[in-house]
Amino acid sequence: MAVTAVPLTDFLGAQLEGIDLSRPIDRQTKAEVLDLFHAHQVVVIRGQEISPEGFIRFAELFGAIEPFFISSYNHPEHPQIYVLSNVRKDGKPIGRDGAGTHWHSDSTFTEKPSSVTLLHGVEVPARGGDTLFVNTYDAYDRLDDATKALIDGRRAIHRYQQKEFVFSGDREVSAEERAEIEALKARRLAEAAEGGPSPTAKRSNTVPDRLQPVVRTHPVTGRKALYLNDEMTVGIEGLADDVAVPLLRRLCDEATKPEHVLRFKWQPGDLVAWDNASVIHTATFTPPDLPRVMHRLTIEGSAPV
Ligand code: SIN
Repeated sequence: MAVTAVPLTDFLGAQLEGIDLSRPIDRQTKAEVLDLFHAHQVVVIRGQEISPEGFIRFAELFGAIEPFFISSYNHPEHPQIYVLSNVRKDGKPIGRDGAGTHWHSDSTFTEKPSSVTLLHGVEVPARGGDTLFVNTYDAYDRLDDATKALIDGRRAIHRYQQKEFVFSGDREVSAEERAEIEALKARRLAEAAEGGPSPTAKRSNTVPDRLQPVVRTHPVTGRKALYLNDEMTVGIEGLADDVAVPLLRRLCDEATKPEHVLRFKWQPGDLVAWDNASVIHTATFTPPDLPRVMHRLTIEGSAPV
């Protein structure tokens, strides 16, 4: 049976149907999945009660799985899997909480950022915990010629920083939710100050800045895409900060206008893969009393050009 794609929006994302992940995937199906992935950039397969082994097998369709650069919160039996979660057992977090809560593409501060990220929704909340996505081919295509001329061929400075519980990307946050977010952030910061969980703090000062093209050419499709990481892209080589910083702000704000955002609402067992070379994403707020457990895998990438 051929794999088919049902678009999630008219600008990004598709639900794939006709794949049976309980069996090994043949070459024809693999080729179809990859074609649809590159056409739609974010793909979802619904309702997958697969084991971690099944998740790993599916991820390997996209390339070689890479170890995550932070080793806290790896899955105990399958250390390639990184666990994202707001759940605590015996007072200890079972996964990383509050991560990725600003617009970004994964690991842009490394020489070869992850090409693909996959998340499996093991336990998903009835409210909150959506993931938002933006198509950065379109974000580039929408720019006026003067802006394209200003940024084409330039490199931006990507600086890794501890940025948990930011929640800066979601423009649909109500006043009540904002108050919940601020209370949660204050609690987590207080815990970290008392020596509690803070998995990234030690890395913040040790990761060197990385220069990445502001506009990258996709290694498979050859299309140009805007390549930025809100909060962590701090400047542009050769441009004064009073020009670069507002420009980066404008590029991000224009790219992520609500009409360009795919808001993905998780259902249990959803399996999502996204293309880090043509998509930016952000996690959103999950109320702390609603459990969210996600398994995450990333695929090795190449140096952006
Ligand atoms: C991520 O940024 O990799 C996580 C996204 C999410 O948890 O929704």
